[in-house]
Amino acid sequence: MCSILGLSSDRDVAPIIVDSLKKMEYRGYDSVGVAVKNESEISVKKGVGKVKDVNNDIQMDKMQGHSGIGHTRWATHGGVTVENAHPHLCNSSSIGVVHNGIIENYAELRKDLEKNHNVVFKSSTDTEVIPNLLQVYFEKSHDVKRAVMDTVQRLKGHYAFVALFKNGEMVGVRNHEPLILGIGENDLLLTSDVIGLPENFNSVVYIDNNQFVIIDDHKHKIYDFQGHAAQFAIKKIPKNYQNVTKGEYEYFTAKEIFEQPDTILVAGDEDNDYLQKIVDFIRDSDYVYVTGSGTSYHISVIAKYLFSRFAGKKVEHVMASEMKYSSRYIIPNSTLFAISQSGESADVLEAVSICKKKNAKILSMVNSKNSALARDSVFSIGLNCGPEIGVAATKSFTSQMAILYKIADKLCDGCLAVDFKTVSDAYAKMLSDTSKIQELAKAIKDIQNLFVIGRGIHYPISKEGALKIKEITYVHAEGIAGGELKHGPLALMDSSTYVIVINPDDDSYVDNISSVHEIKSREAKVIGISNKPDPSYDYWIQIPTIREDLYPLIEIIPLQLIAYYLALERKIDPDYPKNLAKSVTVK
Ligand code: AGP
Repeated sequence: MCSILGLSSDRDVAPIIVDSLKKMEYRGYDSVGVAVKNESEISVKKGVGKVKDVNNDIQMDKMQGHSGIGHTRWATHGGVTVENAHPHLCNSSSIGVVHNGIIENYAELRKDLEKNHNVVFKSSTDTEVIPNLLQVYFEKSHDVKRAVMDTVQRLKGHYAFVALFKNGEMVGVRNHEPLILGIGENDLLLTSDVIGLPENFNSVVYIDNNQFVIIDDHKHKIYDFQGHAAQFAIKKIPKNYQNVTKGEYEYFTAKEIFEQPDTILVAGDEDNDYLQKIVDFIRDSDYVYVTGSGTSYHISVIAKYLFSRFAGKKVEHVMASEMKYSSRYIIPNSTLFAISQSGESADVLEAVSICKKKNAKILSMVNSKNSALARDSVFSIGLNCGPEIGVAATKSFTSQMAILYKIADKLCDGCLAVDFKTVSDAYAKMLSDTSKIQELAKAIKDIQNLFVIGRGIHYPISKEGALKIKEITYVHAEGIAGGELKHGPLALMDSSTYVIVINPDDDSYVDNISSVHEIKSREAKVIGISNKPDPSYDYWIQIPTIREDLYPLIEIIPLQLIAYYLALERKIDPDYPKNLAKSVTVK
């Protein structure tokens, strides 16, 4: 959601912080700020907007000082204003804080600080209680470590924060939100994500839950919340996770869509042993729940269709945010298969914690092998598709689906035998000429509503296509099971309505053509995504003919492209759609 950074160095830190914030902006991008400690004070500069624009206006990168903190925000408490942008200072201006997460009891803490410590709050954020609590406890003990321990005792919720003290010390605190310590030659950097690390860093420590780091005089010490020195491992930075660029593309979203002919070939590849272990786990479990949020939830629904059809294994999909309302009874000897690109989604982590308490074993599929979810699982398989920065999940979705196919194949002793080279070639073909989709995007650029229909395993693909369209084009889009049209949605069809029909030549084809006629009778327009033309289509988006059971893997590509080109037509930056963020680390 938000990104937090803290850097201690032997040179000016502000330009490095600003550069790192640009790379971490995908986590939240409504406002930005930097604070540095110089000889006499902590100075702060912040503004509303993207890092580049705010920096052009107020030159955050020209601030001088060898230690500093930075933040990009995705608002939770308080509107998008300069006052609410981080960093926040305590009343004496001796401590600055950047924070990610939510302080659930902030209202009560605010009252206490106002009444008993004469604190005057300047923002409407939950964050501002943190520097003020630190100030209260630091004034009592004159000891940073003690002040942190006393402060975390008072805070409820999931959070990570970095605090910069006027005496030169810096603290990073982790409670359920990600925090990483990067170690460079003369630099120490606290960050929410390895992507934020400058190129000269080569090792990292993944700070554990309920631990904090104190950086003083270029040295670091790590403690648990009780103040005991903590054990930690220094690890190499995962390859591909530094210096992430757009390459020849204007947007990360485009780069990530066009990378799919390559990423589909390596999905899960680094972890063949894990794949087998996951298969064994699923085979030996009396029941399997599959969970995820957003795109990763759609993968859970696909798992149900794939496993029951090809592997004779019934699984239940549960939306991660719904787990707490549907988990009163979890069948004994169950497995929870949790799916998440980031491995940090709060809803997914909560579903895991609920199921763990009911003795379910946890498997996961993640892109980031060092994420909280991976660390919470017995086995975790990596997507291996490289960092995904665009808010819309694209290459991670096809990699997740490829891994599902691999698992289903092992479960049915090789009955699927997917040749991913064929899939990769089909991607390359569809991506080599996008002119028809660009024309379509031009033609429909002013629409208000769009429906996507699909049947069977194509139904979750219709939901995924609709999600892509709504999140990056702001057009209201709905994914509907074809058979459900006549049970309600037909009431919405008239000559201004467009319906995308996912219609490969398989066992859903004939029923879909009936739906097409029902739609056309209401004068709505039909966009057919199919390997076969049909005279009823107003637009035909051709997909290659491929083995019948592989269509789900390929039909998502035109849907991603429609969303992308429609976003461009509507002058929307697809990488940073309004109100959203890449990793949703709040519940
Ligand atoms: C997908 O395009 C969305 N940005 C969103 O729904 C996303 O899939 C969801 O937040 C889950 O993220 P995760 O896979 O990182 O857990």
